[in-house]
Amino acid sequence: MKNPFQYGGVVSGESFCNRTQEVADLRRAVENAEKLFVYSERRLGKTSLIRKVLSELPEDEYLSVYIDLWPTDGETSFALACAKAFSEAMATSADKLLHTAKTFFNRLVPSVTANDEGRPVVTFGFDQKRPDVPLLEEVLAMPAKAAEKEGKRIVVVFDEFQQILEYESDVVERLLRSSIQHQTNVAYIFCGSRKHLIRQMFMDSRRPMYRSGAHYPLGLIAQEHWQTFIADKFSGTGKRIGAETIAALCRLTEGHPFYTQHLCHPLWELCDEGGEVTQEMIERATQLLLDRESYAFMNLWDSLARNPRRFLRGVAAEGSAVQVFSSGFVRKYQMGSSSNVQRAIELLLKKDIIDKEEGGVVIPDRFFRLWINRKQQL
Ligand SMILES: Nc1ncnc2c1ncn2[C@@H]1O[C@H](COP(=O)(O)OP(=O)(O)OP(=O)(O)O)[C@@H](O)[C@H]1O
Ligand SMILES: [Mg+2]
Repeated sequence: MKNPFQYGGVVSGESFCNRTQEVADLRRAVENAEKLFVYSERRLGKTSLIRKVLSELPEDEYLSVYIDLWPTDGETSFALACAKAFSEAMATSADKLLHTAKTFFNRLVPSVTANDEGRPVVTFGFDQKRPDVPLLEEVLAMPAKAAEKEGKRIVVVFDEFQQILEYESDVVERLLRSSIQHQTNVAYIFCGSRKHLIRQMFMDSRRPMYRSGAHYPLGLIAQEHWQTFIADKFSGTGKRIGAETIAALCRLTEGHPFYTQHLCHPLWELCDEGGEVTQEMIERATQLLLDRESYAFMNLWDSLARNPRRFLRGVAAEGSAVQVFSSGFVRKYQMGSSSNVQRAIELLLKKDIIDKEEGGVVIPDRFFRLWINRKQQL
């Protein structure tokens, strides 16, 4: 029988747990042609959520464009990724795709091939004879033009939006700002992890995207929703798991979608058909995952100096609600001073080992947190 728990990629259908409120919120944002920043820690389910919202839009009314910025590294690759996504979203046949791409982009020379599934895909080259046409402006103007041409409403999603902070200049941010301001009938969703960076982008008055949209921090999935989701997955495959056991599991993962599914996966394997999951199996599944990661965790830990380690010990032990600048914390974890705390935070943020929450600091990797608590507490 196939393991019913999935972790890693985008989840949909039966593998998608709850998020009813979030789906409704995002749907409204799309209907109102809002500009919205959706952000969370890594692997919290942003892409799965957005994909679900897009897939539920009526096709005759909406055209949705999803752009993954992960592979982009600057203005040109950004423009090419957009041009490709826009053209492919608008055209289903190879002929139409070629025509669309030619009509919209003066500077680009499209060529169309079929992918493994036989669907037409476009790649672009540059027209060297026309170097003056401003590529980025042309590309960013496309959604509004497409809305008019197709007579449909358009929603554009930029996933992994924090990637544009890696670009050499802020020209993309600046042009994006001005073009989305004018496109009042196009919905834009900017989706990203590394919360502190995304937040900085629209809350820092010195940045081009400052207040150019509303913000929507995506949270964990509450235990009550995991209760039915996990229980159903086990019972649907001839195994049992009690409410108390699920509660214990959720305490370990804090309801983080990726880590919850990741832990359920070996747990399901450990339980025989017809059997019931025990607390001891949770312990074995956890140990299995920690063993698998321990080499990487050890390397990471070894790369850190004394203060960041002490800081991590403190946050791992106390949880994200702890006041890290309080004298109690500084004393208990031998940080010496609050400026040492500040330095540790800066370093760990930069290394993506922690993230900033509204209330405090969080170690996004729930298994790393467990590992610290089991192996590195004094
Ligand atoms: N609604 C959900 N129900 C159940 N599991 C989920 C849900 N959302 C996410 N997950 C789990 O989390 C994993 C990561 O989901 P997804 O890729 O959508 O997150 P993300 O926030 O886009 O991640 P990244 O930060 O890497 O882009 C999924 O493979 C799945 O195991
Ligand atoms: Mg994602």
